Amino acid sequence: MTATTVSSRGETLAFPPGFVWGAATAAYQIEGGVREGGRGPSVWDTFSHTPGRTADGHTGDVACDHYRRHADDVRLMAELGLRAYRFSVAWPRIQPDGSGPVNAAGLDFYERLVDELLAADITPYATLYHWDLPQALEDRGGWTDRDTAYRFADYARAVHDRLGDRVGTWMTVNEPWVAAVLGYGIGVHAPGRASAAEAFRASHHLLLAHGLSARVLREGGAREIALTLNLAPVLTPGRLNDPELTLSEQDAEAVDRVDCLINRQFLDPTLRGEYPAPVLAIMDRHGGLGHIRDGDLKTINQPVDLLGINYYTPCVVRSEPGEPANAAYPGTEDILFSGAHAPTTAMGWAIVPTGLTQVLTRLSRDYPEVGLLVTENGAAFDDVVTGDRVHDTDRTAFFEGHLRAAHAAIEAGADLRGFLVWSLLDNFEWAEGYHKRFGIVHVDFETQRRLPKDSALWYREVIRHNGLHR
Ligand code: NOJ
Repeated sequence: MTATTVSSRGETLAFPPGFVWGAATAAYQIEGGVREGGRGPSVWDTFSHTPGRTADGHTGDVACDHYRRHADDVRLMAELGLRAYRFSVAWPRIQPDGSGPVNAAGLDFYERLVDELLAADITPYATLYHWDLPQALEDRGGWTDRDTAYRFADYARAVHDRLGDRVGTWMTVNEPWVAAVLGYGIGVHAPGRASAAEAFRASHHLLLAHGLSARVLREGGAREIALTLNLAPVLTPGRLNDPELTLSEQDAEAVDRVDCLINRQFLDPTLRGEYPAPVLAIMDRHGGLGHIRDGDLKTINQPVDLLGINYYTPCVVRSEPGEPANAAYPGTEDILFSGAHAPTTAMGWAIVPTGLTQVLTRLSRDYPEVGLLVTENGAAFDDVVTGDRVHDTDRTAFFEGHLRAAHAAIEAGADLRGFLVWSLLDNFEWAEGYHKRFGIVHVDFETQRRLPKDSALWYREVIRHNGLHR
């Protein structure tokens, strides 16, 4: 059975039976306890403690103190009716130096968390890499060093050996584009390096890490294996309003090139075993292709069960030869990245729900074998606490728009299995520190008090009805 729509008063927008509803977080953004339980330092500890790197010098030292409050947080999830929870495992808790002996206390922590989730009837979805690379590995080259991918596979085995009997769905790497480009290409994320050649090496090795760890997980009997990509439709300002608009040859080429760099650079190797030709040409001009070895693409192209999609905003570009506008993304110096003319979130990201329909329908057309799961969708707004309420109508409207967009994709045939909001809690938004609040639950970082926002109460009803209902 697929989704159904009944339009009239008392409208319902029902999702398919068994649709997965939940929320997501990541270790460094919520856990704190950075020196607890034998955890080693990660690149994000180093980066956030380096003056000038994060807003107001914020760090993840305490964050939401989830390391100590996890049991309460799971209780809160249950109260909110969540059916699934996507969290990430901090590699430096499991292997403080990134390789060698496994730290039992680190595994114990995630085992407790998983057991609490299962006891509350919430399905755990584990992400193995959400950007907190052990600093010891960065000191040896980090993701620019091929060996890091092999160390990652060892780490994946250690985590799966302990939790594989209780965690069914495993996500290897979260947003390799962001890890590579923001971390190694532009340097606004840890480890803060700025070299196009290093970004391409890092991104290949992150893909290799995905493939090697997917193989390990499969051998270990994992039920579902996934990777999570940040994906965006690439539009021109004109296409934003009219998706059918015919593009000039230059604009069409610009759109295709950016799509290859931000989307297909990751989709094609993992799901088809090849890099798009324009990506290879650009890589070749930025450091060469020496890091791609025989057999790598076969390794990267492991069968996966699910593709996790993180969708926030579209990418809007137009060809602008002669005006090198954007040296940040290698190979796009002649392309202008313009904001969309649409309302924006506190991040300045344009709110375009139809972009999600476009991403999902495109995936089901171009990569039909893989199941789809929205692993992140959400928005930061400048929330105001009024008494014991946060009336975040803008966030609720954001989610409602994106759920409608997801539903439209299902009706068009996309095999979308679930939707996880970003994020459960307000948390450490990387270089933006604690200023940008993405949670459906407000966190007072002075007292650690949790306060479900109106969007969380609304979401509970969505889950209860398996869709929108009014
Ligand atoms: C995607 C990332 O996975 C997550 O860590 C981040 O907080 C959100 N985007 C919002 O920027």
